[in-house]
Amino acid sequence: MTILAVGRPTRSDPDMKSAGTTRSGGALMQDEPLIFELDCWEKTGVDFPRDDFGPDLDASDLAGLTRASPLRLPGLSEPEAVRHYVRLSQKNHAIDLALYPLGSCTMKHNPRLDEKLARLPGFIDLHPLQPMSTVQGALKVMDALAHWLTTLTGMPAVALSPKAGAHGELCGLHTIRAAHEARGDARKTVLAPTSAHGTNPATAALAGYQVVEIGQTADGHVDIADLAAKLGPDVAAVMVTNPNTCGLFEREIIEIARLTHAAGAYFYCDGANFNAIVGRVRPGDLGVDAMHINLHKTFSTPHGGGGPGAGPVVLSASLAPYAPTPWVVHQGGRLALLEHAVGEATASHGRMSAFHGQMGMYVRALAYMMSHGADGLRQVAEDAVLNANYIKARLSGVMSAAFPDGPCMHEALFDDTWLEGTDITTLDFAKAMIDVGFHPMTMYFPLVVHGAMLIEPTETESRRELDRFCDALLELAAAAKAGDVDRFKGAPFHAPLRRLDETLAARRPKLVWTSGD
Ligand SMILES: Cc1ncc(COP(=O)(O)O)c(C=O)c1O
Repeated sequence: MTILAVGRPTRSDPDMKSAGTTRSGGALMQDEPLIFELDCWEKTGVDFPRDDFGPDLDASDLAGLTRASPLRLPGLSEPEAVRHYVRLSQKNHAIDLALYPLGSCTMKHNPRLDEKLARLPGFIDLHPLQPMSTVQGALKVMDALAHWLTTLTGMPAVALSPKAGAHGELCGLHTIRAAHEARGDARKTVLAPTSAHGTNPATAALAGYQVVEIGQTADGHVDIADLAAKLGPDVAAVMVTNPNTCGLFEREIIEIARLTHAAGAYFYCDGANFNAIVGRVRPGDLGVDAMHINLHKTFSTPHGGGGPGAGPVVLSASLAPYAPTPWVVHQGGRLALLEHAVGEATASHGRMSAFHGQMGMYVRALAYMMSHGADGLRQVAEDAVLNANYIKARLSGVMSAAFPDGPCMHEALFDDTWLEGTDITTLDFAKAMIDVGFHPMTMYFPLVVHGAMLIEPTETESRRELDRFCDALLELAAAAKAGDVDRFKGAPFHAPLRRLDETLAARRPKLVWTSGD
């Protein structure tokens, strides 16, 4: 293990100017091989007495379970194992280090209280196949979570089992298809706006639908005239994100729902941005038929990167009978997980996953809800919006807001017109943010905004943290305007790895370690 660099490299170091993926190192940062590259397969970090099983015991007492071949795990002492993982953890940015401004992805603080509750042995040691009589508390958590979600959204039913937002979209579309097919009306098209998150059209395509784009107005909203023109007897659903991915509330949302229903289609709302309206707006009142709620965004559970998180889907009365199983039901004073609700005829489309969903996330989300209360959740939305507008106001003097007129919701969106003539791109600017200790904001999304920089601070940041972030960005922006191009083109200088070939990483990712790589 080699110490790569002592002391923080400066940008004038010749090595710092070289392009590519040269390691830059940093104070106290050591090179870290993968655990499989630590070459001591024969040893273990723990000493087990060989062939010494105690009085009157020998290997035959293991009933044939003696290991026939070595385990092939690298042998590390306990401090080596701990240090390996701590060093790896330091190679990445984390929400516990600084504000994490990824727009749309919503990276927010996971309250320690919720973490503590999720780790209670009664929850963490559960097995999905335990008898119902032994998991009454867990079922009560699911029942209470369902109650909060249906109450906050004003929708009568919720499917808890989807594992993430995108999985929730799939659940919503399967439910919609089941409802159409029950009427003998097999529709084949889904409409989604140009600004939609990539998962919307991807999910619709995966579910076997043809996706047709709805246009966008110059002020960042769904083009209602275009929607009306594209609605027809083959449209199964319209998928709209609200607040949308430009960080704006769809003012015509009720009209969108009305037009959709008039065409016999269902209104799917992508609820990834529910954190901007929770406690203030009930999607059920807007005419929404199905909506996923990414618990990691609105209710502060850890972000699963597409799973294993939780993306419950709330459903309108017309879709509820087609919801996936299982359901938590009340049976004579007890709770049970059932395939069919007692006494109700259902036409469920089946299961979204083998079991009931992610209990760890349910506990965290419920703890978040209960510790905030209804008023507190309303303030969550207000603070998320306030924080985004604070950032928009502070940065707008230098950076160009994509939609400068009026306030934004929970995300501040900038385009790259302010970088014109600097030879610096959105990507360069984002990479330079790493050098000043911040994770880049979401870049080049939504696609409808040129060189988009989408910043979502979330409600959990204090004004001091917001100022620290804004000060850093304003200093970088001043350097960009002053023509300090090297600072941006070569960035990041201080990360464990320099700039990576992102195209190669996306096209040919190495996802599996093989010996000799
Ligand atoms: C608007 C929007 N929709 C859907 C998703 C997908 O959610 P998940 O990452 O939980 O699958 C995201 C994720 O960032 C999103 O921002």
